[in-house]
Amino acid sequence: MRSIIDIVDLSPEEIDQMIETACDIINNPQKYSEKCKGQKLATLFFEPSTRTRLSFEAAMYELGGNVIGFSEASSSSAAKGESVADTAKVISCYADIIAMRHPKEGAAYVAAKNASIPVINAGDGGHCHPTQTLADLLTIYREKGRLSDMTIGFCGDLKFGRTVHSLINAMSRYKGIKLVLISPEELKVPSYVKEDIIKKNNMEFFETGDLESVIGQLDILYMTRVQRERFFSEEEYLRLKDSYILTPEKLKSAKDDLSILHPLPRVNEISVAVDDDPRACYFKQVFNGKIMRMALILKLLGR
Ligand code: NCD
Repeated sequence: MRSIIDIVDLSPEEIDQMIETACDIINNPQKYSEKCKGQKLATLFFEPSTRTRLSFEAAMYELGGNVIGFSEASSSSAAKGESVADTAKVISCYADIIAMRHPKEGAAYVAAKNASIPVINAGDGGHCHPTQTLADLLTIYREKGRLSDMTIGFCGDLKFGRTVHSLINAMSRYKGIKLVLISPEELKVPSYVKEDIIKKNNMEFFETGDLESVIGQLDILYMTRVQRERFFSEEEYLRLKDSYILTPEKLKSAKDDLSILHPLPRVNEISVAVDDDPRACYFKQVFNGKIMRMALILKLLGR
């Protein structure tokens, strides 16, 4: 029985296979419509989510399975003081697989240690978010036809943005990746990401506070929201929230084949005027997320 807590729990070969499965699901959805018949996914969301929870649910329904779960901690026994470990043991009696989101780093790991069914980390605090990364990887692959040899700009909240941490970790395993890390001083990537992932894997990287001066070099621009809920002070959030706003004007100096990604939800960081630009991929990314979650559920349930 296997759980996915971090993106590197999947080997690059497994990710390649999942991308292959994903492309087959896109082309032949009917072939998969009963693959998980009689099986149950439990979505345990202790923290708000629209996309991730609903895309897990849609993924399971499209595989012919069923879904149970809760979407806020206040409607679960966590409100009575139940531990994550106990919740994981209990849910193991009701379902075949768990997707869990929790505000605390490491919560999914604790759940996986205690569950007797596979656990998928759907985001643990500011730590990581492997299934968003699967969505990102499928999007990059479908846009570029490869996962290697490209310059990726990450822009915004690189400190608290768990999707950033997971995607950097994933990309550390492909050759020829150059990172351009664009953030205010206060929101730079955490030192464990810089030391244990970027430097350890000899990834080429460059840090800057200025998006416009580097946008022309990028093949991928990964925009992120400033993660209000993880700030210690509201003033600090208000000061930093509009650090970067991508506009059609700023895109004038970008490459014609740039791909703009964003895990969503968007607040202000991409002007809606950018949505009609053919380089905007963030709504395609949402679709790809559902498909990769289908591929992951199939894999973990051995279907
Ligand atoms: C991201 C998350 O939850 O970390 N959202 C998502 O899953 N698509 C990004 C965010 O909340 O900013």
